Amino acid sequence: MREYNIAVLKGDGIGPEIVDEAIRVLDKAGEKFGFHMNYTYALLGGCAIDETGVPLPQETIDACKAADSTLLGAVGGPKWDNVPGDRRPEKGLLGIRGALGLFANLRPAVIFPQLRSASPLRPEIIGEGLDILVVRELTGGIYFGERGRRTVDGAEAAYDTEQYSVPEIERIARVAFEMARKRKSRVCSVDKANVLESSRLWRATVTRIRDEEFPDVELSHMYVDNCAMQLVRNPGQFDVIVTSNIFGDILSDEASMISGSIGMLASASLSGGKSGLYEPIHGSAPDIAGTGKANPLATILSAAMMLRYSLGEAEAADAIEAAVSRALEKGRTADICTEGMKLVSCAEMGALVCESL
Ligand code: IPM
Ligand code: MG
Repeated sequence: MREYNIAVLKGDGIGPEIVDEAIRVLDKAGEKFGFHMNYTYALLGGCAIDETGVPLPQETIDACKAADSTLLGAVGGPKWDNVPGDRRPEKGLLGIRGALGLFANLRPAVIFPQLRSASPLRPEIIGEGLDILVVRELTGGIYFGERGRRTVDGAEAAYDTEQYSVPEIERIARVAFEMARKRKSRVCSVDKANVLESSRLWRATVTRIRDEEFPDVELSHMYVDNCAMQLVRNPGQFDVIVTSNIFGDILSDEASMISGSIGMLASASLSGGKSGLYEPIHGSAPDIAGTGKANPLATILSAAMMLRYSLGEAEAADAIEAAVSRALEKGRTADICTEGMKLVSCAEMGALVCESL
């Protein structure tokens, strides 16, 4: 029997409930496809602050490094809104991304045919469907740049710095081009090169990597403001979008909403190696935590991505994705429930996916 060691970070808010469903589905997939998962639970975010005083305890980093991969729920909540910036739950999330060197964040935005009517876009705009992969740089840029407070003309001021080095851009560009080769072979690099110096270096470097190493892949460039508009005007034009940390944060939320609900979108954060961190792109939704309303599908789909990208269990990953698609016919959580469809809870949604497996 193949065995995998998974570090599990349930986090805060709806984190524990959605992760529980993903684990149920993983175990079911293991029974079916002949593998066994060993889970090690560790703390991240607000729950870690409560227990240990810091959002990212060293034991959590060690547990993730020792594991074959990490599954994460979500972190943060109003309870920790007033802790100092460097100790917020979100700092734990950025910290674990940095500590594990997870520079490439893959955020697929696909529209399940059943959810077309849940998309806020008109059917003629959605057209044949939507299948975009946002490749977001995850350990650089303004998220990790120098920041601080200072006095400017006698007044208090604050600053954050957007900085990218050539190697940081090269490696994320390579991930995007490699992903594109497995898809429609088209990359759109998104920047703000009409204003930002870091974007000009980004654009030149992405272009060079294409010319030198991926001449078979089609590359276009787009300014981020235009991209935000094109995503709702004609999303079908995109295959792979590669962009910086902050632009990727914003554009991936937009792309997710087009696909019906932010509760549907999975993500993989990868370093150079095989192991990665898998998490839904939505947050901890503290307002609905514990009510059973959360949609576990993004976490379940993240678990499928983990099977595919880190564990070499592509068949099980395909089966989970197909099971999600079938489960959507049987019941739906509130965020994606349309008229005539059975409304189910988080746990019931997880059970429907297991049953469909
Ligand atoms: C995301 C989230 C995080 C980010 C927050 C919670 C720090 O929005 O994963 O997209 O900005 O990266
Ligand atoms: Mg975000």
